[in-house]
Amino acid sequence: MNSSQFNMVSSAFLGTVFVVLTISFLSEALYHTEAPEQEGFVIEVAEGSAAPSGEAAEEVIPDIGPLLASADIAAGEKVFKKCAACHTIEDGGANKVGPGLWNIIGHPVGAKDGFGYSAALTEYAAGGTTWDYENLNKFFLKPKAYIKGTAMGFAGLKKEKDRANLIAYMRTFSPSPVALPE
Ligand code: HEC
Repeated sequence: MNSSQFNMVSSAFLGTVFVVLTISFLSEALYHTEAPEQEGFVIEVAEGSAAPSGEAAEEVIPDIGPLLASADIAAGEKVFKKCAACHTIEDGGANKVGPGLWNIIGHPVGAKDGFGYSAALTEYAAGGTTWDYENLNKFFLKPKAYIKGTAMGFAGLKKEKDRANLIAYMRTFSPSPVALPE
């Protein structure tokens, strides 16, 4: 090619490079977005949420014992309305979706007559575990986290006060309520 052809080709080439660079610069300027400060969604974690039973990363859940003495039983009756769709609590109450809960505190886990428990709950019960104030507290915080695979379809009660009031209410449904912790 002669020099004027060469000039034409090279200026065409340079022109193309210029246009491409300009476009990429502009689109960068137009579409550049700040990285969000926070990821798009937040996974809600209950305060002091329960770690699955026996796992290393177990979080500390404060004992419910100290709150029970001053718990509000009438408020606990209201909390129990969330459970009543699936559970009865009175003496002789039937099993519904969940087992009857009469006299459950101090009672062996997974041992109500005529109820078909999940494998997960049965496994948790193995070795003679009974329900007491503290394991009920952890279970009610997040049932599915505390007993992985439980059939109890209930998200949990985040508020410690609600759990204390509920447990104090449930405690009254027993012929001889288990003594409150010191
Ligand atoms: C959607 C129905 C449903 C709701 C709501 C529900 N439960 Fe349950 N619950 C179940 C089922 C089903 C089981 C049996 C779980 C299994 O076998 O894994 C169960 C098991 C239990 C147990 C263990 C009983 C035993 O014999 O060992 C307790 C205690 C309990 N629920 C209390 C509660 C309380 C208190 C509430 C309200 C805060 C509640 N549940 C809300 C369905 C429910």
